[in-house]
Amino acid sequence: MEIKAWNLVLFSCLLLSLLASPSSAQTCVSQTFPDNKQYVNCTDLRALSSYLHWTYHQSNGTVEMAFRHTGTTSSRWSAWGINPSGPSMVGTQALVAFVNSSGVTQAFTTSIDSLFPTLQPTDLSFQVPSLSATFENDEMTIFGVLRIPENMLSTSQVWQEGPVSNDQLQPHTTDGANLQSRGSINFLTGQSAGASSGSRTRRRNVHGVLNTVSWGILMPLGAITARYIKVFKSADPAWFYLHVACQSSAYVVGVAGWATGIKLGSDSPGITHNPHRTIGIILFCFGTLQVFALLLRPNKNHKYRLYWNIYHHSIGYSVIILSIVNIFEGFDILNPEDKWERIYIGILIFLGAVATLLEAFTWYVVIRRKRTNKHPLAMNGANGHGQGV
Ligand SMILES: *[C@@H]1O[C@H](CO)[C@@H](O)[C@H](O)[C@H]1NC(C)=O
Ligand SMILES: *[C@@H]1O[C@H](CO)[C@@H](O)[C@H](O)[C@H]1NC(C)=O
Ligand SMILES: *[C@@H]1O[C@H](CO)[C@@H](O)[C@H](O)[C@H]1NC(C)=O
Repeated sequence: MEIKAWNLVLFSCLLLSLLASPSSAQTCVSQTFPDNKQYVNCTDLRALSSYLHWTYHQSNGTVEMAFRHTGTTSSRWSAWGINPSGPSMVGTQALVAFVNSSGVTQAFTTSIDSLFPTLQPTDLSFQVPSLSATFENDEMTIFGVLRIPENMLSTSQVWQEGPVSNDQLQPHTTDGANLQSRGSINFLTGQSAGASSGSRTRRRNVHGVLNTVSWGILMPLGAITARYIKVFKSADPAWFYLHVACQSSAYVVGVAGWATGIKLGSDSPGITHNPHRTIGIILFCFGTLQVFALLLRPNKNHKYRLYWNIYHHSIGYSVIILSIVNIFEGFDILNPEDKWERIYIGILIFLGAVATLLEAFTWYVVIRRKRTNKHPLAMNGANGHGQGV
């Protein structure tokens, strides 16, 4: 049962480091605004030397914000927006600013509905009671007041910049920093926060951790257990119980994680993450089928056992592949700090390396067993004994 102990350690590590939030000196803290205007919160955005400052007023449901893009010129436009459908361009409710040919800094709103937007002024899906922009010292600053619905308080943000020629906004480049300029944003500010949305972020994180640990780590581990430990005759039938223990705890935790996802989905009408949701539902069905497969397993010598094996293996491997795909879909939606995705990739590489080594070792054992066993009936190698999955 060492494997279960190891899982527990891993799980606690993940949870602990999720709760420990990093603190680092931010540039935005030292930025100032005309008339000594102050904002409660600010954040250094990760690309395009951009900064976001904001205050959330719970009383009237408005976000007062300033987006600052430094190191730009008067012949470039700057834009910032939030996108409830994810950290991408299409769907973004954007604020755009540029200096027109009369030298006046203009700001307008535009709802981006295609990959080749015309960037014409349009209304947003929420009200913008106030909007302006200033350009000075090579810094473009957009000031806005957004009356955003509660389900958009924790959402995705994107920002962008590009050239202006003859008062026309030209497309931005599509490489380097211009592709990294997106992330998540939570406008809720500490004490003044409404509990519901704060708990929503926490629930999204819990959903992510539960599903990553169960579907993304425990399930592959359980498959590795079944495939490789059963080579050892002395590990029979221990490998079988280990496999069942691993997969059923993964299934229980996974269903809990799945339920949090369904609840999150039903609590946020208007926000649909279709592929993620669809794959999640397929995974739940496949996982449940595997539980039934265990209960309906024919005897080892039964003539249908071969078909059962094929069925159990193909569903099992599909679950693992789909789980990994869906976890990366989830990373895109949740948009946690990059390190989480890197940690998960590290775990996958580790599991992959372990599986490769064990695969090689298994072949070695099987071939050697064949050589030393003269009796042909004793030659069924790795699957010769035990309950044989
Ligand atoms: C919202 O309320 C805050 C104070 O709570 C006030 O300063 C702000 O002007 C209000 N905004 C709007 C758009 O009514
Ligand atoms: C620049 O913007 C100002 C204020 O919106 C407007 O009055 C002026 O006509 C604009 N100039 C051009 C060339 O569009
Ligand atoms: C905003 O500022 C408040 C007060 O300093 C703090 O408690 C809260 O965690 C901040 N929120 C964010 C999202 O940075």
